[in-house]
Amino acid sequence: MSQFDFIKEIARYGLENDREKLLDALNELVKYSKNTKKLNFALQLQSIIKETIRIPQSPSIVKAGSPIHHQQIDDKELSDLIIEKVTSDYRLSNLVSSEKTKEQLNYFLQEHNSIEMLRKFDLPISNKILLHGPSGCGKTLASYVIAGELKKMMVVVNLGAVVSAKLGETSKNIAKIFRAATAEDCIIFIDEFDSLGKVRDYSQDHGEMKRVVNTILQLFDYLPQTSLLIAATNQVDMIDDALLRRFDININFDLPTEEQIKQLIDLTLKNGQFKFDKKISSTKVIKEAVGLSYYSVQKTLITAMKRSMFLQGGKHIPLTSQINTEIWKSLLIEEKAALRKN
Ligand SMILES: Nc1ncnc2c1ncn2[C@@H]1O[C@H](COP(=O)(O)OP(=O)(O)OP(=O)(O)O)[C@@H](O)[C@H]1O
Ligand SMILES: [Mg+2]
Repeated sequence: MSQFDFIKEIARYGLENDREKLLDALNELVKYSKNTKKLNFALQLQSIIKETIRIPQSPSIVKAGSPIHHQQIDDKELSDLIIEKVTSDYRLSNLVSSEKTKEQLNYFLQEHNSIEMLRKFDLPISNKILLHGPSGCGKTLASYVIAGELKKMMVVVNLGAVVSAKLGETSKNIAKIFRAATAEDCIIFIDEFDSLGKVRDYSQDHGEMKRVVNTILQLFDYLPQTSLLIAATNQVDMIDDALLRRFDININFDLPTEEQIKQLIDLTLKNGQFKFDKKISSTKVIKEAVGLSYYSVQKTLITAMKRSMFLQGGKHIPLTSQINTEIWKSLLIEEKAALRKN
């Protein structure tokens, strides 16, 4: 059967309201997509099927206080706490980093690709990883790389929202997220992990912080070995020591060095379609970029690429384009000045 045959079947059963056959056809499509290496699509479809199965067929009228009603409230609350569910095509080659960081990530991925072997010898699997370092240096990107390399769905949780929106219920919320994510074999990505520290500032109840930390400690300890947890922070010193110790791997993301800036430029210049107008001065410009984050370097470079193209004028679309080094340099200087002000 081809993809189109599946679509035709799905359309027919959907329009005929034949839920059972529709589900069969959808599950077949998941299998077919996995076999034809369209893994991300298969994961997304699988998750949609699972979610709809959980939700009752006619959600319009439910009895208040009934189990279905509670389930619906639970589902609604859970989706408020989760920012997004993503699949990813990012690979290690999309991330520029130090050799050490790359090696750590590589080992981590290797472990998860060799779970069977490690299990056979009763070796523990590292499954809790902390990414830390300044803003714009690749923590979120690294989490996408892990999801992409391992071909897993990732649930992105913003701890900032969990903590501030429902203070007092933080522990319950965190437990709920963990349960849902492990049930679906998703990677849990907790961004802004340092916002746990805020509980201390917001709450009048001094026991609250302890409760939250204890819940997280327990959840960490009981996390199944095949489940993966990634946390990210740019304020690692805000995190409780007991929590820090629970991570199996600690990866630092730093501001780029000159060499790393060059690698980022190569990555951004897209197959040589763009070139600098002056070779020598561009190295000088790279020196100007040192001190900025990967994000700032890339952002200014992309702006320079666009502005240089506009400057060259003409209405025809060029095959290749030159980057005006002076434009990039002034953008870098501007960016640095803006950051100094903040
Ligand atoms: N190490 C890197 N290699 C390649 N690109 C990078 C790197 N770091 C950042 N970038 C670029 O900058 C963008 C933003 O980076 P990212 O979101 O990963 O930063 P972050 O460390 O999570 O920052 P924050 O602490 O503000 O959340 C990325 O999507 C990517 O385009
Ligand atoms: Mg981030």
